[in-house]
Amino acid sequence: MSSFKTIEWKNNKVIMIDQTRLPKDEIYLEFETYEEVADAIKRMVIRGAPAIGVAAAMGIALGALNTTIEDRDQFIKEVNKVTDVIMATRPTAVNLFWAGKRMLGVLNSQNGSVGDMKARLVEEANIILHEDIETCRSIGRVGAELIPDNSTILTHCNAGALATAGYGTALGVIRGAREAGKNIKVIATETRPFLQGARLTAWELDKDGISVSLITDNMVGHIMSKGMVDAVVVGADRIAENGDVANKIGTYSISVLAKSHGIPFYVAAPISTIDYNCPNGGNIPIEERDINEVTHVLGSRIAPDVNVYNPAFDITPNENVSSIITEKAVVKNPFLKGLSDLNK
Ligand code: MRU
Repeated sequence: MSSFKTIEWKNNKVIMIDQTRLPKDEIYLEFETYEEVADAIKRMVIRGAPAIGVAAAMGIALGALNTTIEDRDQFIKEVNKVTDVIMATRPTAVNLFWAGKRMLGVLNSQNGSVGDMKARLVEEANIILHEDIETCRSIGRVGAELIPDNSTILTHCNAGALATAGYGTALGVIRGAREAGKNIKVIATETRPFLQGARLTAWELDKDGISVSLITDNMVGHIMSKGMVDAVVVGADRIAENGDVANKIGTYSISVLAKSHGIPFYVAAPISTIDYNCPNGGNIPIEERDINEVTHVLGSRIAPDVNVYNPAFDITPNENVSSIITEKAVVKNPFLKGLSDLNK
């Protein structure tokens, strides 16, 4: 396990490590209302698909707990309203909607009092958190088999303990390979514009004593051409039915480079990241974020006042993905049948 907690439920409050302040400051924030949790997801105090799912569930639980409504039907209406607010925070990571649906499923299956329903929603949010840690550990065990001993793995963004309830997906595979006794080195891309690689992946790997070298995003081709990368492992925000993958902007370019250098390109994600209602990547909504993330670095302007694009994610077509690593199994390309079998 990692030596910090990304998110937890304590004394009817939600505690999160503030990922906007890392690596300079390790600060834990307390949230008492669902509006605060929604704002934290939007501002990326917490980010990463599975972690957003856990935060969403806990936000819904907070909203349910804090209402003074005593009438059952009114209470159900209120929790649906809270869920709508949380679901409107970020559009790409499907885990947010998965968690919302699961919480509403629990709400709708309860016959007890409003008090019982509140207790059950808080319990469910905590179950989702613990399941996520176990799921990541399984992804780590399953994926470790693909990682050769004495290898160097390139990863993009942060798909680590910080992006989940703990352990990580892509970094879970690296942790799993190390726990299997393999000697693994990691190359982390800095991941402009939000710098998840430089600020978060480098921080959490270094903190846990895992060898990590940091590069800027535009160094990937050169590093690959020098034979310095044995495999790429990244996470995912949403995987379409056909295996197209939405992940952090820049993932697609890395997949093209990996393909042209004959380097395996693995995606590690829980089954909850697969959107079975989404036939291909073209149907996945891509979040556009504030242009200040591009024109500014850590609060300082680095560009003149010109037009800017800031898509936060891109789509890696399934033909660039060697295998998808889930908690149940490694699914090899072609993906349609293998991914569908996971849903049975
Ligand atoms: O914008 P972010 O930081 O939420 O994006 C995160 C990613 O793209 C991760 O790679 C993905 O969510 C997988 S996290 C296990």
